[in-house]
Amino acid sequence: MERDVESILVSEEEIKQICKQLGEQITRDYEGKNLLVVSVLKGAVVFMGDLLREIKCHCLIDFLSVSSYSGTKTTGVVKFKKDLDIDPDGMDILIVEDILDSGITLSYLKGVLMGRNANSIKICTLLDKPANRKADIKADYIGKVIPDAFVIGYGLDYDEKYRNLPYIGILKPSVYEEKGE
Ligand code: IMP
Ligand code: MG
Repeated sequence: MERDVESILVSEEEIKQICKQLGEQITRDYEGKNLLVVSVLKGAVVFMGDLLREIKCHCLIDFLSVSSYSGTKTTGVVKFKKDLDIDPDGMDILIVEDILDSGITLSYLKGVLMGRNANSIKICTLLDKPANRKADIKADYIGKVIPDAFVIGYGLDYDEKYRNLPYIGILKPSVYEEKGE
């Protein structure tokens, strides 16, 4: 698996620092509020697990699932595959995402959740890839801004693989060029 990685973009050590720093910020901002941390399956679950342990105020957690990707290309069409279990009425929602790329997924999600009477909705993304932005959306908490490359690991996949790499790496183009993408 590791031989498909061209280079490491965000090391395990750097990810740890990012989670700690974001957790401190979120704890300060949400103390005394009704925080509902919502993770977007599946890419964000690894980040969610580490980030949660750095959040020191009360929070509830929930998951939802959407998809807009096929291989390395966004299809531009977002599919809702799993909704929230908790009713977010009156809650302060923090959406946790692995990467903000075109922004189509998050702007769709924010739109859907805005109709649910939440008290507030904010976005925390581990990675921000602004080069490819198509929707008008910004994250409130950003771990790291990255260049326009297809990345894998720490939850991020290529065709459902590489999610278990402990760091974020750039995928060798030969891996997807072989498949004609
Ligand atoms: P967006 O709708 O284009 O912003 O895409 C968001 C979703 O696309 C993320 O949650 C990821 O699942 C996926 N994605 C975007 N860029 C990458 C990447 O470089 N590697 C792996 N998945 C990606
Ligand atoms: Mg994702």
